[in-house]
Amino acid sequence: MCGIIGITQNNSEDLMEKLYQSLKRLEYRGYDSVGFAVLSQESIKISKNKGKVDEVAKQTDFSLMKGTTGIGHSRWATHGAPTKENAHPHTDCQNKIAVIHNGIISNFLQLRKELTQKGHIFTSETDTEVVPHLLEDLLQQGKSMKEALFELATILGGAYALVVIHTSEPNKIYCMKKENPLILGVTKDESYAASDIPAFLPYTREAITLRDDELATLEPGKYMIYNVKTGKTVSRKPHRITWTPDAAQKGGYPHFMLKEIHESGQVLRTQLASEISNVEQIAQAILDADNIITMAAGTAFYASLTTQYLFQQTFGKIVIPTIASEYETVLPIINKNTVVVAVSQSGETIDTIKAVKEAKQKGAKIIAIVNVVGSTITRIADHIVYIQAGPEIGVAATKTYLAQVFAIWRIYHQALLKTNQTTLAQQLQKAIQNIPDEIERIVRNDEAKARDIAKKIQNAQSAFYLGRGINLTTALEGALKLKEISYIHAEAYPAGESKHGPIALIHKNYPIIFIAPNDNTREKIIGNIMEMKARGAYTIGIIEKHDQELKQILHQYFEINPQYSKQLQNIPYQIPLHLIAYYTATTKGHDPDYPRNLAKSVTVE
Ligand code: M6R
Repeated sequence: MCGIIGITQNNSEDLMEKLYQSLKRLEYRGYDSVGFAVLSQESIKISKNKGKVDEVAKQTDFSLMKGTTGIGHSRWATHGAPTKENAHPHTDCQNKIAVIHNGIISNFLQLRKELTQKGHIFTSETDTEVVPHLLEDLLQQGKSMKEALFELATILGGAYALVVIHTSEPNKIYCMKKENPLILGVTKDESYAASDIPAFLPYTREAITLRDDELATLEPGKYMIYNVKTGKTVSRKPHRITWTPDAAQKGGYPHFMLKEIHESGQVLRTQLASEISNVEQIAQAILDADNIITMAAGTAFYASLTTQYLFQQTFGKIVIPTIASEYETVLPIINKNTVVVAVSQSGETIDTIKAVKEAKQKGAKIIAIVNVVGSTITRIADHIVYIQAGPEIGVAATKTYLAQVFAIWRIYHQALLKTNQTTLAQQLQKAIQNIPDEIERIVRNDEAKARDIAKKIQNAQSAFYLGRGINLTTALEGALKLKEISYIHAEAYPAGESKHGPIALIHKNYPIIFIAPNDNTREKIIGNIMEMKARGAYTIGIIEKHDQELKQILHQYFEINPQYSKQLQNIPYQIPLHLIAYYTATTKGHDPDYPRNLAKSVTVE
């Protein structure tokens, strides 16, 4: 969703260039308009428009926007169409205050009505614009900026990450947040505020996560944090980001998504090398719980389904996978003997945050499987497993999906050990150790084939992904990926369910991807393939290596080593599907990194 950057520094030469580069690095969040504001000689210079960062930067004369303090914003439209007027920053009537915002001000209609009655002139349809006008009003009452912002926090409803500048304080940035992320970055001479770490990663790796109901003031090389409810200062030291600036670059790949698919093996290797003690504790917590509820959205939800297949089947634990935005359905059964497994790459998905907060209030123990260190969900959780995937810039999750599933398998492995299921645990241990190499082998071997299949299916209107057992997760994630970036309608079903309706759609050359490992699901999947083939479908299978029978039946296939037909199978079987989605999108001429309408981190409900 919206990208935010604020910079205050001593040097005025490169401010605009840094604002521009920072917004470029936030493009992955998804947006449709862009704006910059720089404090310059007691006035605010603004440039904004709909379109891409590069387009708006081209329309902007950087030499006219000289200053030491500035803000930049990429807007993902919610209130009002993507237009120049609705693009951020928004200002007050006197053009002295400029504001950028991520989130939704829920009571903006009422506030706008009151402010209009007082004579304020609005120039956009956004909810955000009430903020500069409210501040203007409060300042006119004789309040300082800090006091005005404290009061603003009591007036605004909804969620926000706000960054504000004022002409009277040319070296200062004010930031305030509730439910939307804001990260501060500091060096000796500069201070940054951003919606996400990659924005300032080339300039500093010293970061501070602002918490809900906090206000920060930034000056070059200095920051202060206040609790807006008590007005008291909060002492918080920066933490060091381990991600390198290179990790957020394409590194020679045409797209972040392809780079990230290639990084999948290494990501799991890094996770394997990390601390295991928290994984052991989590396994015990799950074994001790009466019931387990998973909460997640999108790809993370599909990853979370792994919990049900593993813990319900082996340990007879009741596992209820819950789409985070539907959390109310499970609230009545949550109590202090419930474990909630929250899965989220960003740790900032508002639906998941809301669900987890409610579950916590009802006494549940929260386990977070998260990528971004210090993110909101990690601060609510009782136990955290960091998936150690590094920054994922492509909007479509790839390496983080595999890393989430891997984290769940590792917890399961510890649970097997704790319950003395040694044979199963030993087999799994071997698969766990070898999986990074296997992933790298699959990526190397299968890229060319995925490209060929992309050519074959690029003009399809629709596709099905069919799997059984734990590989329903593989099918669901494969279908989501294809639809997200190639815009081909794709649905996944349990293969057995395909006969109960979906089969009506099959016609000649209708693409169907089957996940067909050599396990207890194989015979039934063969039956499903034959049914679909008989109706003209174009069949693609992800199969176990040397499965001669399936090789003869299918039109196309990808082979996975036999070791993974029973252990960890929804990891390697996924790789060809990520490659198919990537190459179908690029074959059709779409940019897989920035799919239309999608945002990397969904911070509005
Ligand atoms: O940051 P999260 O893992 O909580 O994000 C959840 C979903 O928004 C995300 O997985 C989304 O579905 C991606 N576009 C999938 O590719």
